[in-house]
Amino acid sequence: MPKEYQDVVTHLMLVHTEGELTGADDYVQLFYPLAPNAYERMICCERAAEEIDHYMLSAAVLAEIGVDTSYMLTQKIHERRYYTTELVRDIRTWMERGIYSFLGEQVVFDHLTEFAECSYKPFAEIFPKILRDERIHVAHGFRIVRDACRTDEGRAEAQAALNRLWPAVLDLFGRANSERSKLYLKWGIRKTGNEELRLAFSANMRPRLEALGLRVPPDVENRKFV
Ligand SMILES: [Fe+2]
Ligand SMILES: [Fe+2]
Repeated sequence: MPKEYQDVVTHLMLVHTEGELTGADDYVQLFYPLAPNAYERMICCERAAEEIDHYMLSAAVLAEIGVDTSYMLTQKIHERRYYTTELVRDIRTWMERGIYSFLGEQVVFDHLTEFAECSYKPFAEIFPKILRDERIHVAHGFRIVRDACRTDEGRAEAQAALNRLWPAVLDLFGRANSERSKLYLKWGIRKTGNEELRLAFSANMRPRLEALGLRVPPDVENRKFV
């Protein structure tokens, strides 16, 4: 493997591995206390277990090339340096948790779909299982939002959550001109650039949100970076 390829693919795997672990923490530390009933608390625990399983799958691929990620297990969230997004840490309500899973985990899903065709096959091969789980995570977020939108009060809550989180969700795709993303494309680690993925996401999700009676903010408003 050329050095540049090795570095780039290892970096991506570290980002992904750490992100899965952070996902597990989010479910038990942030979403669980917000859950409105026993069923939703149980779902949070199940999701956390799945995210840990995804961590283990990814960590095993890194271990094969001599990269140990067990130190991540004892890191506090602020000590993690690969997968940084303030979006989840900022979730304040159960409805925002619903919007986060419906939209934010869909962004993750879009990236993982790319990784499933990654040129580094040992990494690509872990994704069929991960994608099966993540599809369910997104669907659960959708159900939380859809059910809320059946009443005016619930729809107003969902609208407030959407207004606040939509820009941050779009930011999850990363900068349009990201140098690292160019390297991912160069080495066949991904096929689609950040901006292209973001535009496709917005085009797919807008009609789904509008069908629930929600208004989607303009894509350019309140973005941290484009
Ligand atoms: Fe995951
Ligand atoms: Fe997930």
